[in-house]
Amino acid sequence: MTIKTAILGYGRSGSTLHAGPLEKWSDDFTVTAVCDIDPEARKNAKSRFNCTVYDDYKEMLKQEELDLVVIVTRSEQHCKMTCDCLRGGVNVLVTKPWALNVAEAEQMIAAADERGKMLLPWLPARWGCDLVRLKELLGSGIIGKVFMIRRREFSSFGTRADWQIWKKHGGGYLLNWGPHIIYQAMQLAGEKVATAYGQLRQVINPGDVEDLFHAVLTTESGIILTCEFAVAINKLPNWVIQGDRGTIFVKDKSVEIHQVKFPDNINPAEYSNTPEITVTSEELPGGAATNSRYGDAFAIYPEIARAVRGEIAYPASTGSALELTRVIDAVRASSEKNQVISI
Ligand SMILES: NC(=O)c1ccc[n+]([C@@H]2O[C@H](COP(=O)([O-])OP(=O)(O)OC[C@H]3O[C@@H](n4cnc5c(N)ncnc54)[C@H](O)[C@@H]3O)[C@@H](O)[C@H]2O)c1
Repeated sequence: MTIKTAILGYGRSGSTLHAGPLEKWSDDFTVTAVCDIDPEARKNAKSRFNCTVYDDYKEMLKQEELDLVVIVTRSEQHCKMTCDCLRGGVNVLVTKPWALNVAEAEQMIAAADERGKMLLPWLPARWGCDLVRLKELLGSGIIGKVFMIRRREFSSFGTRADWQIWKKHGGGYLLNWGPHIIYQAMQLAGEKVATAYGQLRQVINPGDVEDLFHAVLTTESGIILTCEFAVAINKLPNWVIQGDRGTIFVKDKSVEIHQVKFPDNINPAEYSNTPEITVTSEELPGGAATNSRYGDAFAIYPEIARAVRGEIAYPASTGSALELTRVIDAVRASSEKNQVISI
């Protein structure tokens, strides 16, 4: 039996990032309905999936017997739509940012618990090829004990003028990029974040929200995470990971590992002890078309199918998404108050 699926919001992301894998993995999913307020979107969805189309998701919930709704509407719409679908007895996959703040995230978790339905936050960066490889490398101890993780992305001065530039729609790059960048740094550290310091700025985009954020986080054991979305030319590394036995640099798909080895008999009385340094490099897998540094949607959807069938626990758990939202809230509060926030 395939998973009877509806797409709620057939816009830029719904009609591509989600519709593509749902169409490809037809042994797992059948797109039985699409809901969008835009008639053109409904027309396109109908001709692509030969499905029933709706302009009102509540009507869709009444008419259809669904196993899963994939919610890909504007960010400020996610919480209400998710709660309505869960309370209507349907599992939900909700795109990032799943919630605008912790209060919304908690409402959605409560709605899922109330009806015993699955709430799957779409956090594709969890599957990013860089994160997956870096976890392996750090797990092997190749650079020793990690004390600092820097994660950075750039706009290269590209601006946008859609709803993402307005606060009332849940715009701003902290909510838009935080679920990629901050989530990945947290996942790699593998520890809860204890404190957050953040600065948000609106540099070049029109609208009323930030197009830049810089966050300094510390984990429970004291690992420092710096996460930033920068208005700058895309030149600096996307990751720098510092351990007490080396440093890893990642730029796009290129990984450079610098390992240090101190001489066996260090004389503590000597002014300096110079380590031996070996450098190795490798390329991350996945072509540019799959954009797999942020997770390849075609590879993620089979896991969604298995999670909906109860065969595996969904890897991007609601617990991890809630932790992320707590951190994002703290970064925003820190910027507003100009002080470090304890989480
Ligand atoms: N890499 C990623 O995971 C990724 C990439 C892009 C966007 N997103 C997220 O996807 C969401 C949508 O972004 P987008 O760029 O596709 O936006 P969009 O504006 O292109 O699409 C939103 C769609 O929702 C429809 N819609 C609005 N109100 C509706 C309603 N009441 N009922 C039904 N449909 C309604 C709109 O007509 C539109 O087609 C955002 O939350 C964004 O952050 C995630």
